[in-house]
Amino acid sequence: MPTYLSYPTRVVWGAGTIIKLGEEVRKAGGTKVLVVSDRGVIAAGLVRRVENLLSEADLQFSVFSDLQPNPVEADVWKGVEAYRALHADIIVAIGGGAPLDTARAIRLAVNHPKPLSRYDDAKGGDVNVTSELPPLICIATTSGTGSEVSRSAVVKLDDTKRKTVLFSPRLIATCAIADPELTLGLPPKPTAWTGMDAFTHCLEAYVALGDNPLADALAIDGIHRVTRALPAVMDNPNDLAARADMMAAAIMGAMAFTKGLGAAHAIAHAVGAIVPGAHHGLVNAIVLPAVCRYNEEQAHPRFARIAEAMGEPCGSMDERKMADRACTRVEELCRRVGIPEKLSAAGVTAEMIPQLVELALDDASHRTNPRPFTREDCEPMLRSLL
Ligand SMILES: [Fe+2]
Repeated sequence: MPTYLSYPTRVVWGAGTIIKLGEEVRKAGGTKVLVVSDRGVIAAGLVRRVENLLSEADLQFSVFSDLQPNPVEADVWKGVEAYRALHADIIVAIGGGAPLDTARAIRLAVNHPKPLSRYDDAKGGDVNVTSELPPLICIATTSGTGSEVSRSAVVKLDDTKRKTVLFSPRLIATCAIADPELTLGLPPKPTAWTGMDAFTHCLEAYVALGDNPLADALAIDGIHRVTRALPAVMDNPNDLAARADMMAAAIMGAMAFTKGLGAAHAIAHAVGAIVPGAHHGLVNAIVLPAVCRYNEEQAHPRFARIAEAMGEPCGSMDERKMADRACTRVEELCRRVGIPEKLSAAGVTAEMIPQLVELALDDASHRTNPRPFTREDCEPMLRSLL
């Protein structure tokens, strides 16, 4: 079976590159801009920055920011109304994963009027993504999801009430602006939680089943960067070089996980579906050490490389011992950046476990986990984390 290797997003990279926004909008043929964001990004003053840049470039715009913390279909259709009301011809999304994913779904829905369930990737809906989509510029304000370079959007659908992946290479942003200066004001908890999401993407992609050497190269470098940079930004939030490393790692993680993810993400998606407001990165970070231990033996050559990437002095150590060190390093990293050890910190209770097991096993992410993830393993793992 061939593997199709493709990393096509055009990224405007580097500190200060937000000033290129007007130029990029014009280059994409845009004149009337629907800005998609959320209240947190507005409060951080970053939407005002975008408004100023669009005004300076003589571009008309309106801001749509009345979003739920996690993307839902109802918000997508409201965004389509806002797009039409402005007679917009381009979307600029600024924020973390939620506004960027919502914007990507709005972009789809503008020219695809049917319910979003028609585009459910798990049901082969990608073939229904057909007509030309308006241009989309994604501006990241966190270093976590890597949604700015993603070709999918995860949205909770109105009819099924499930988190569903809308996927198509046509959904790739026209361009992403990755300016690490925009993350300097991110408070410690979201910095740690989104950063650990990026780390989990890199780690799960690196050990995932499949043959994708480009994904592996991105993932192992992303692991190296987060190990060094996330503790540095926790110590000094204004460390721009470390913030840049985190932003690079987030992009690398999102590009790498086109190879696949694993059991941590299956559980994080399950928790996200039934615990309102549970932070995706936080849940990933809480379960990642247990998932690493679960996979350690099966994927020990890969975990040995992770130990090296995390700076473990391995010398001529046996690969199994190195794999053990990698797992210990992951535990240390989680502690170092303040990740709690129990899922109760993310709102999970014992009563939720049966439903979480069903949802996690139903989630496609664990299909590439290096060790098969079964009901017999999932339930005790969740209980051990309560
Ligand atoms: Fe994630």
